[in-house]
Amino acid sequence: MATLETSTKVVLGGARGGPDAPTLRTDRWWIQPVATVSILTAFVIYSTWAAFQNKNYYVGANVHRDLISPFYSPCLTDHCVPGSSAGFILHGWPLSPALLILIFPLGFRLSCYYYRRSYYRAFWWSPPSCAVADAHPTYSGETRFPLIMQNVHRWFFYFGVLFNIMLTYDAVRAFQQPGLGWGVTVGTVVLVVNATLLWMYSLTCHACRHLFGGGSRRLSAHKLRARFWQFVSPLNAKHMNFAWASLIFVALTDVYVRLVASGVLTDYKLF
Ligand code: FES
Repeated sequence: MATLETSTKVVLGGARGGPDAPTLRTDRWWIQPVATVSILTAFVIYSTWAAFQNKNYYVGANVHRDLISPFYSPCLTDHCVPGSSAGFILHGWPLSPALLILIFPLGFRLSCYYYRRSYYRAFWWSPPSCAVADAHPTYSGETRFPLIMQNVHRWFFYFGVLFNIMLTYDAVRAFQQPGLGWGVTVGTVVLVVNATLLWMYSLTCHACRHLFGGGSRRLSAHKLRARFWQFVSPLNAKHMNFAWASLIFVALTDVYVRLVASGVLTDYKLF
């Protein structure tokens, strides 16, 4: 009669279910890594394509709207579509204005603790899932170059907040309908939801929680910080949800603005 092992020695790169099986799990553990690879790959392909388009990123006064794609905001070059310029102009940049700014939101996402866990598992199989053998025999963690660079995440957090402020400004401007006054269109709703999801993604960030709750031996002595820490801590548990929702919606926002700007869709006025 076979004896049941009560403990399994963990060996990096070793088989969890014996020499012929990488795991004893019988559930569909592979769904999560497959979904992660699919969504992240689709996002990278779409955002790269959109960033190089250099057109159809702004819907302006000629159709009584003020809608800008989040991939192009703030528009900083001297060849921005009329009406979309952020005011500060960088002269002589020959490429798409999106390429000037995307490094910041992209760096924030790439170095995110949650995404790191997800793409290490999904792309590098390190490990593919809980209780599934690693695809690699060794593990150096994030202690060496290049992965030690992931520690810049807390700095990207500050840039993320800066971009949230700008996208919130864009969302407020979307209530404006040049020549008609103020109102709400589908585009207004899209930009407001996008800014809200991005704020929730930033507020649930671990670096945000640490900013208010970390580095203090007696948090109770800092009433405001303690209060904010208490506010963001339960939200932090939802970080994964906001990470995916905001990623997908920011791409959908670009799609919407692009379709309206190119004349495929009409941005309907709600009231
Ligand atoms: S941990 Fe995900 S954005 Fe900071």
